[in-house]
Amino acid sequence: MHLKLNLIAAASENMGIGINGKLPWRLKSEMAYFTRLTTETKDQKKKNVVLMGRVTWECIPKRYRPLKDRINIVLTTKNLDYGDEAIVCNGLSQALDLISKGPLKDQVESIWVIGGSSVYKASMESPHFSRLYLTRIKKYFECDAFFPPLLDNLKLINDPAVPTEVQKENDIQFQYEVYEKEE
Ligand SMILES: NC(=O)c1ccc[n+]([C@@H]2O[C@H](COP(=O)([O-])OP(=O)(O)OC[C@H]3O[C@@H](n4cnc5c(N)ncnc54)[C@H](OP(=O)(O)O)[C@@H]3O)[C@@H](O)[C@H]2O)c1
Repeated sequence: MHLKLNLIAAASENMGIGINGKLPWRLKSEMAYFTRLTTETKDQKKKNVVLMGRVTWECIPKRYRPLKDRINIVLTTKNLDYGDEAIVCNGLSQALDLISKGPLKDQVESIWVIGGSSVYKASMESPHFSRLYLTRIKKYFECDAFFPPLLDNLKLINDPAVPTEVQKENDIQFQYEVYEKEE
């Protein structure tokens, strides 16, 4: 498969993504959007990978772990074993090797990088970076985890799978954006 990294994140006005190991907001429709994009495949026989840092994995409530109908890959420098729930890799290149050359080779349709900060940064700087699906939450939230600075050469694009109008839930406004690297 051609290795393309799609990043998906939700960030507040101050570019916060998390606090105390949790999301700073509760937006059911935004969560449903995340689930739809990261799960849907054109080829019913394939699955998508969700690639994440160890802390993000631990932040997912146990009842939702592993993220269902997706291949969960967790990056860690530690010697951890999540059994059948998730594949453990010691870095982005090991994960990409596994997806492109290993036993997953013919099983994966898309790769979704789902956080947190350092995994987003490494993926955005990778030659395999393709798109950033960023939900802009139009409110300030106190956070202790942040989305890294956006690359200078990103341009906004339209993806028919993504609603363009401003969304609203629990009095919070948010908007889905999709960025691609300018050639
Ligand atoms: N709003 C959003 O879209 C969103 C998305 C995801 C997460 N979050 C939030 O963000 C917070 C968690 O994110 P975080 O930035 O603190 O942590 P994180 O990136 O999820 O996890 C960091 C850990 O991942 C491992 N890791 C990261 N890059 C690695 C690499 N290249 N090679 C090997 N291991 C690597 C290391 O684990 P070891 O220490 O085990 O070596 C590192 O300590 C939570 O609050 C969560 O709710 C929000």
